[in-house]
Amino acid sequence: MAPLMTLSCLALISAVVQGYAIPNMNQPSERATADRNAKVLILGGGVAGIIAVRTLHEQGINNVVIIEAWDELGRRLKSTTFVGKTVELGANWVQGTQTGNGPKNPILSLVEKHKVKTMPSNTTGSITTYDHTGAVDFLDTFYSSAEAYENLTATAGGRVSRNLVDLTSRAAFNLLGIRPQDARSKATEYYHFDWEYAQKLDQTSAIASSWANNYTFNANEGGFSAENLLSIEQRGFKTFIQEEAMSFLKPEQIRLESLVKNISWSHSGVNVTLDNGESLIGDYAICTFSLGVLQNDDVKFIPSLPVYKQESIASTTMGTYTKIFMHFPYKFWFDTQMGLYADPVHGTYPVWQKFDHEAILPGSKVMVATVTGDFSERIESLTDEQVKQEVMSVLAAMYPNITVPAPLEFMFPRWHSDPLYCGSYSNWPPSFVQQHHDNLRANVGRLYFAGEATSQKYFGEL
Ligand SMILES: *[C@@H]1O[C@H](CO)[C@@H](O)[C@H](O)[C@H]1NC(C)=O
Ligand SMILES: *[C@@H]1O[C@H](CO)[C@@H](O)[C@H](O)[C@H]1NC(C)=O
Ligand SMILES: *[C@@H]1O[C@H](CO)[C@@H](O)[C@H](O)[C@H]1NC(C)=O
Ligand SMILES: *[C@@H]1O[C@H](CO)[C@@H](O)[C@H](O)[C@H]1NC(C)=O
Ligand SMILES: *[C@@H]1O[C@H](CO)[C@@H](O)[C@H](O)[C@H]1NC(C)=O
Ligand SMILES: *[C@@H]1O[C@H](CO)[C@@H](O)[C@H](O)[C@H]1NC(C)=O
Repeated sequence: MAPLMTLSCLALISAVVQGYAIPNMNQPSERATADRNAKVLILGGGVAGIIAVRTLHEQGINNVVIIEAWDELGRRLKSTTFVGKTVELGANWVQGTQTGNGPKNPILSLVEKHKVKTMPSNTTGSITTYDHTGAVDFLDTFYSSAEAYENLTATAGGRVSRNLVDLTSRAAFNLLGIRPQDARSKATEYYHFDWEYAQKLDQTSAIASSWANNYTFNANEGGFSAENLLSIEQRGFKTFIQEEAMSFLKPEQIRLESLVKNISWSHSGVNVTLDNGESLIGDYAICTFSLGVLQNDDVKFIPSLPVYKQESIASTTMGTYTKIFMHFPYKFWFDTQMGLYADPVHGTYPVWQKFDHEAILPGSKVMVATVTGDFSERIESLTDEQVKQEVMSVLAAMYPNITVPAPLEFMFPRWHSDPLYCGSYSNWPPSFVQQHHDNLRANVGRLYFAGEATSQKYFGEL
C-alpha cells in the first residue's frame, strides 16, 4: 500500500489498534463459560439470525431473544400468493448442492430435513433467444460466452495468487479479449453475469465474483457443485428455516413486529430501543440486518460505529434482483424453460422464465421477467402501470407477428425502496480489500455482526 495517510489507511490502523474479533462462540474461553447465562439479543429473524440462535442453543446458551420487524421469520425468504399459487418474491434457489461425499450445502440439508419440494434447474440448458426483431437464434454466442465466464473466474483467481490488485469484472473480461459490442452478446453477458450478481461487470470486483462463484459451484475450490435447485414448495421456500426455527425456539424467544430504532452498544452490554419506545437489554447482541439497512440511517447506533466499521459498510454495495410476475389469459410463449431478450439498451427485461411449466406451476399461464441492479431501482420509481406498459412493448418486439394479450395480473416487489431490506443481497465492488471484509464482520464492544454480507465465502446471491 502506498505510504499515503488516506482516510482508508487511518481507518485500517485504527482497526488494528482498537482490535477486532470474529465472533466465535465455539472457542473455549473463560468468558464463554462464565457467560452461559448471558442474555443475547438477535436482531433480525432471517437465516443468519435463526442459525445464530441454533448455534447458541447447541452451546447451552438459551437466554436468547430474536427480534424481527415482520410478522414472521424468514426475511429475504418471502413468499406470496399469485393467482392462487405460492410464488417467491425473494430467494428461490439452492445454488450448489454436493459433489460425491464432499461438503454439502447447509441450505440443502435444511431443505431435505424439512421436505421442501425442489426441482433441478438448469437455466442454461433450455433457452430460446430473442432480439427486438423477434425470435433469433444466437445460442452460439450464448454458449461461447459461458466459457468466457469460466475463464474470467480463473483469471481473477490468478490475480489473487500472484498478489495483483483487484480489477472490475469488466476489465478482467477485457483482458481475456471478451468485449461484447452488440445487443446479443451484451444480453448473453447479462445472463451469465448481471443476472447472478444483480449488478453490472464494472460495478463488481473480479476477485470477489470469482470467490463467490468458486465457493458455490466449484467443489475443487471449496464449493459444493454446479447443480441448482429451484424451490417449488407450495408452503413457501421459507419453510426450511421457519420449521428449523420451530424445532428449537420457544414462543417467548420470538419478538415479531418489533422494529429496532436505536442500538446503544458498549463493552458491557447492548440496549436496543424499539419504535414503540420499549427497550430490551442484552449482555450481547448480534445484528443480522441487511447491509443496505446498515447503510441507511433508519437504525441509529449509539455511539456511532467506529470509522473503520463505517468505512467497511460504505465500501460494499447492495444488488437488487426483481422478479416481475405476470398472469396471461393464454399461452403464447416459448417451449423452453427460459427466454433471453436482447434489447438495444442493456438490462431491459432480458430474462424470461416460464412458470407455466409442468414441474413448476402447470397450467398457471404465469411468466416471470427478471431485472436487476440500476434497472430495478429505476422501475421501483415507476408505477406498476408504467412498468406493465414497458413490459408489453418488449413482448411486442419479441413477438412481432402476434398480438400479445395484456396480463390479467401483474406484480413485482420493491426490495430497494423497502427500508427493511434496501436491496436484495450484497455485492463487492472493485477494489476488493480483504481488511474491509474483515472489518464488516468485526464486533464493536458486545455488539456482533452476522448475515450474508459478512460471510467471507457465502456473500451475495451465491
Ligand atoms: C446444463 O445444460 C447444459 C446444456 O445442455 C449442459 O452443458 C450443462 O452441463 C448442464 N449443467 C448442469 C449443471 O447440469
Ligand atoms: C413474422 O412474419 C414475417 C412475415 O411473414 C416473417 O418474415 C418473419 O420471419 C416472422 N417473424 C417471426 C419472429 O416469426
Ligand atoms: C478459455 O480458456 C481456454 C484455455 O486457456 C481457451 O482455450 C479458450 O479459448 C478460452 N475461451 C474463451 C471464450 O475465452
Ligand atoms: C477459482 O477457481 C479457479 C479454477 O479452479 C482458480 O484458478 C481461481 O484461483 C479461483 N479463484 C479465487 C479467487 O481463488
Ligand atoms: C436503555 O435505553 C433507554 C432509551 O434510551 C433508556 O431509557 C434506558 O434507561 C436504557 N436502559 C439501560 C439499562 O441503560
Ligand atoms: C433514538 O435515539 C435518538 C438520539 O439519541 C433519540 O432522539 C430518539 O428518541 C431515540 N429513539 C427511540 C425510539 O428511543
